[in-house]
Amino acid sequence: MIISRKSRYVYNPLLEEDKLAAELEKQGKHVIKLNAGDPAAYFKTPSYIINAFVEALKEGRTAYANAAGVKELREAIAERYWRMYRSSISPESIVVTQGVSEAIDFINAIMLNPGDAAILFRPYYPLYPLYLLENGGKPIFENYYESLSWNIDTEKLEKTIKKNARKKPKYMLITNPNNPTGTVLDRKVLEEIVELANNYGIMLISDEIYDEIVFSNAKFTSISEIAKGMPYAILNGASKAYDATGFRLGYVLLPEHDAKSEQLLAKLVDYAQARLSASTPAQYAFAKALVNSKEHEKQVRSMVKEIEERVGLATKLINKSKHMHVVEPQAAFYLFPKVNLKQLGFKNDKEFTESLLKEEQVQLSRGSGFGAEGYVRIVGLAQKDILSLAINKIIEFCERHAKEA
Ligand SMILES: Cc1ncc(COP(=O)(O)O)c(C=O)c1O
Repeated sequence: MIISRKSRYVYNPLLEEDKLAAELEKQGKHVIKLNAGDPAAYFKTPSYIINAFVEALKEGRTAYANAAGVKELREAIAERYWRMYRSSISPESIVVTQGVSEAIDFINAIMLNPGDAAILFRPYYPLYPLYLLENGGKPIFENYYESLSWNIDTEKLEKTIKKNARKKPKYMLITNPNNPTGTVLDRKVLEEIVELANNYGIMLISDEIYDEIVFSNAKFTSISEIAKGMPYAILNGASKAYDATGFRLGYVLLPEHDAKSEQLLAKLVDYAQARLSASTPAQYAFAKALVNSKEHEKQVRSMVKEIEERVGLATKLINKSKHMHVVEPQAAFYLFPKVNLKQLGFKNDKEFTESLLKEEQVQLSRGSGFGAEGYVRIVGLAQKDILSLAINKIIEFCERHAKEA
């Protein structure tokens, strides 16, 4: 066999129906794609960021950059954390990566020996178990509970930690705000998670890539505001709040100076050096975007307002159907409804999403790809008329199958 055993874990369930969608398009059918969480496909990347990218190119910023990130960008990121969260983070505690995706890959490669455990929460972002398993890790699953508006039950979490005490998990990874549920974790819950991580000596990692896409009635808390004096890492980047997914820029913050944080930081720099550099002009453009906080706030506010309206509309439409129910999202741009699959005659969520694509030409992602069978993820970024058209198609599809079942 030419491919390794571990490579079997590398597979992105969010894109698995792309081939079928392409075939349908070849037959002249129009597919409404609500499966990819890409804001730049719906909202133009702000022109001041585009101009900064062009300027960087004209200035000849085309050589390899410092592997851990250009100074201007790391300083601008540190300044963002001071401005937004009053967290004092040194630019040297920041490593720039090619998206949060690369950061997740690096962290698993660095921290895990075969058989090492780490705590993930279901529903998860699919890349987390992918890289964990590829590196020989063993996931310990806890949950975000739908009955708690997709928050974490910290008593259950502590039980899970105790049950696995023989082999201490290397890290615990939360997503806040969450993909796929669109939830913001309660500050009190976060404080309890921080305390558990600290008490049991588990590195806490918080993926905060949606930290600025938070709706008007919700309050987001960054781990950097509460996890003081203990090892923790934050993942963030340009993709969502800066609407620049194709720049492929993310970063890891390791704000503290304990031995674990220092070791992880030094190894991250080694990994960054092994792949030489992230995109140089993109880094200069992102640095300018970060520094230009006035322009950014204007842009992000208008994008979030529009997203909130789209997601709100989608929530109302979904909850009119007796075959689906969704907890109203507070952030990001996803809806994660539970579907009464049995009543509709489907054996699982994969069969549901495949049939939906074939019969209605609407592409979603199956919940089982996020570790939550029986749900589907809908991306709420499309314009309102397209989004309502798609959701009405889903509702009609459900009604038709309910009658046939
Ligand atoms: C929770 C989460 N983390 C990471 C990523 C990947 O981000 P990047 O574009 O920075 O690789 C995504 C993308 O959808 C995401 O939803």
